Amino acid sequence: MSSSFNQKTHNGRIALVTGAAQGIGQAITIALAERGAQVIATDLSLPQETVNKIGPGARAIRLDVTQEDHWHDAFLQGQELGGVDIVVNNAGYFPNRPIEELDLPTWRKTMATNLDSHFLSVKYFLPGMKKKKWGRFIGISSNMVGLSIPGMSHYITSKMGIIGFMRGLANDIASHGITANSVLPGLTNTLATAAQTAEMKRATWEQQAIKRIGEPEDITGAVLFLTSDDAAFITGQAIVVDGGQYRIG
Ligand SMILES: NC(=O)c1ccc[n+]([C@@H]2O[C@H](COP(=O)([O-])OP(=O)(O)OC[C@H]3O[C@@H](n4cnc5c(N)ncnc54)[C@H](O)[C@@H]3O)[C@@H](O)[C@H]2O)c1
Repeated sequence: MSSSFNQKTHNGRIALVTGAAQGIGQAITIALAERGAQVIATDLSLPQETVNKIGPGARAIRLDVTQEDHWHDAFLQGQELGGVDIVVNNAGYFPNRPIEELDLPTWRKTMATNLDSHFLSVKYFLPGMKKKKWGRFIGISSNMVGLSIPGMSHYITSKMGIIGFMRGLANDIASHGITANSVLPGLTNTLATAAQTAEMKRATWEQQAIKRIGEPEDITGAVLFLTSDDAAFITGQAIVVDGGQYRIG
């Protein structure tokens, strides 16, 4: 976890994180800042708490990831700081809807939040990364793509889409020193999962090799690694961070 490292592996980098007001996004933002990155914390409303935890230097901006004009504003703010080097698309929408109850507006909101966001971030931040000949795109997917959880077909579609987009994107940006990878958390202790009973959570983590629920800080290590120079030769990959529940390969 980030707190056990003191290396400033991200010194000089400017990192934008979506859905940074709480949960996994907040933990990733704080971890990137601890490693020396200047962070732009973004969310539907100003993620002030996250920025307060980090201190001076961190910037909070309002960014609804489904809105293209918000991405344009975020791009302009990033330019003021010198241009964004790292984008972590973390904001997510995940209502449970059995397929008979799934309606088109819910389907479209899921795709807009979980997938359009990745495309829009590339549209606005890739040109600057190309100029710098360095960049990192991280998509927060989910290990649910490999699990048999009902009522989540729209969500699983979007989270598989993130993996697909990162794979395809990797081909188009590699020659510019830019990588694109997905991180697949397992069940993580955030407000998003607070409604689940302890029994429900236990039923999940008992399937993991590591027998406990994940904490937001458990997810940060993979993001820090993939956004560092150490991972310069790793792209188009999907890394599962779930205590060993879902195994691929
Ligand atoms: N918690 C888990 O068990 C778990 C497991 C696997 C994957 N994930 C993924 O991790 C990510 C973060 O999950 P979390 O548990 O921290 O969720 P959370 O609900 O605690 O936080 C999500 C944040 O995203 C923001 N957000 C939602 N829609 C947005 C939009 N349109 N524009 C900007 N921000 C928006 C919310 O305001 C919130 O602050 C999501 O993509 C989720 O799918 C979570």
